[in-house]
Amino acid sequence: MIILTHSKFETIFLVLNLLLCHFASAQWDKILTHDAFPEHKIKLKEPHLCDKTVQQPSYIGYSYGGDDVSDTLTAALDVYVFLQIFFREFHHYAKLDFHLAGESFAGQWLPTIAFDINKYNYNHDAIRNFIHINLESILIGNGLMDPLVQFKYYPDMACNSSYGPVLNHSTCNQLRKDCKQLIKLVKKYYNSKNAIDCMNVINFCQDKMYQPYEMAGKNLRDIRKSCNSSVSCYPELLNIVKYSNRQDVKTELGINSSFVFYTKNLTVHYNFIYSGSWIIPIDIYISSLLKNNIRVLIYAGDADYGSNWLGVDAWTKVFRWSGTKGFNEANITPWITASGNYSGEFRTFKGFTFLRIFEAGHYVPHDQPVSTKTIAEIMRKHLLEVENKEEIVGIMNDDKKMSKINNKDLPIAYHDEIL
Ligand SMILES: *[C@@H]1O[C@H](CO)[C@@H](O)[C@H](O)[C@H]1NC(C)=O
Ligand SMILES: *[C@@H]1O[C@H](CO)[C@@H](O)[C@H](O)[C@H]1NC(C)=O
Ligand SMILES: *[C@@H]1O[C@H](CO)[C@@H](O)[C@H](O)[C@H]1NC(C)=O
Ligand SMILES: *[C@@H]1O[C@H](CO)[C@@H](O)[C@H](O)[C@H]1NC(C)=O
Ligand SMILES: *[C@@H]1O[C@H](CO)[C@@H](O)[C@H](O)[C@H]1NC(C)=O
Ligand SMILES: *[C@@H]1O[C@H](CO)[C@@H](O)[C@H](O)[C@H]1NC(C)=O
Repeated sequence: MIILTHSKFETIFLVLNLLLCHFASAQWDKILTHDAFPEHKIKLKEPHLCDKTVQQPSYIGYSYGGDDVSDTLTAALDVYVFLQIFFREFHHYAKLDFHLAGESFAGQWLPTIAFDINKYNYNHDAIRNFIHINLESILIGNGLMDPLVQFKYYPDMACNSSYGPVLNHSTCNQLRKDCKQLIKLVKKYYNSKNAIDCMNVINFCQDKMYQPYEMAGKNLRDIRKSCNSSVSCYPELLNIVKYSNRQDVKTELGINSSFVFYTKNLTVHYNFIYSGSWIIPIDIYISSLLKNNIRVLIYAGDADYGSNWLGVDAWTKVFRWSGTKGFNEANITPWITASGNYSGEFRTFKGFTFLRIFEAGHYVPHDQPVSTKTIAEIMRKHLLEVENKEEIVGIMNDDKKMSKINNKDLPIAYHDEIL
């Protein structure tokens, strides 16, 4: 069961780009259900506060449920069911264009949620009282798409990024050596899909890539800053927890007063790792979205260390889809924001875009508050980029024969074949 709430937070954060506020027809404390998914329910209370987030998976934030979710594909299906139930109740929203945005681990779950939406849009016989969701695009910020590609870039980010080195020579040398070992561990995990190998990757990465960096007093989420715990780096995170646990806030949102809000749940975290499906081969999900003309924006604040832009950029270049070559040949173009600032650079081809954002760490909207509109600007760019460019639209129309997804495209098949 997912409860609509209204905060965003550290590790697990997903924005469904819906206006969940002002739904006039909502009733108080209503339980929404769907014939096709009898095991799922949404408890609804109309908040006066404007809410645009869903907390996922269960047991994160205000979310809870009967079954523990321990893998990305199951979590994606839960969100899909949530959307079906939601749109069934608020069908006027179902007419709108639908975009999914998220950051960090969203590199794993946004593509899978989008994949499910797209899949059922073409296979709706499977669902009674199905509602078509007008999925237009996904946006992923500083995402974790493929550690095998991305983890290679910790040494470059710490030791020779455009912000200059933040570790000394000997630490950098060690980092480069250890990183080679880390990549071997990732390969081992990819081959075995084994929980122990997965754990080894995470522990080794923590010990050898994060710890030396944190020992130097640097912010994992922003190479420009010195501070090395999430609370000292982002003290406002504490306020999210305090606010979300306030009795009046819970009452307002219809949350059981005995419920305690946490931004993360380590049991859930470890369950994902133990399932061995911490990382799934996301390229196939993303390429299938692009094949169906669903646009994909990958963006990255270029001061993040943990999910750094060098690794994200490298992934966009090796990402396997029909446009790999065209994307690599496309020019890098300055990103000029509405205020006229040269705020980043992007590369785009056939609906797939990579945008580097200058002077922002992992939390792009937090770091670029001058334009509180950063995300809106990114969206605008993302939307206009494709719609205003005739040649791109032309190409997209050629592909318009929306290839139906067939059984061999189902996630499980991918899952077994690739990892
Ligand atoms: C950092 O240095 C390495 C080794 O000299 C080089 O291969 C890499 O391209 C450099 N990276 C950046 C971002 O300048
Ligand atoms: C480099 O940094 C590490 C960790 O901060 C420190 O232990 C070491 O003494 C430094 N080495 C040099 C040569 O400054
Ligand atoms: C945090 O940084 C300080 C230096 O600013 C260092 O002494 C300390 O060991 C670091 N703490 C952790 C947990 O890495
Ligand atoms: C609130 O949660 C408590 C503890 O889980 C439970 O006993 C109680 O029935 C819940 N109250 C409501 C109104 O759901
Ligand atoms: C964490 O998640 C588990 C389910 O995996 C749940 O049983 C537990 O109550 C959650 N812990 C907290 C503190 O919410
Ligand atoms: C544009 O850049 C100038 C100069 O760096 C800066 O002062 C201003 O705040 C920026 N405006 C926005 C909207 O980012």
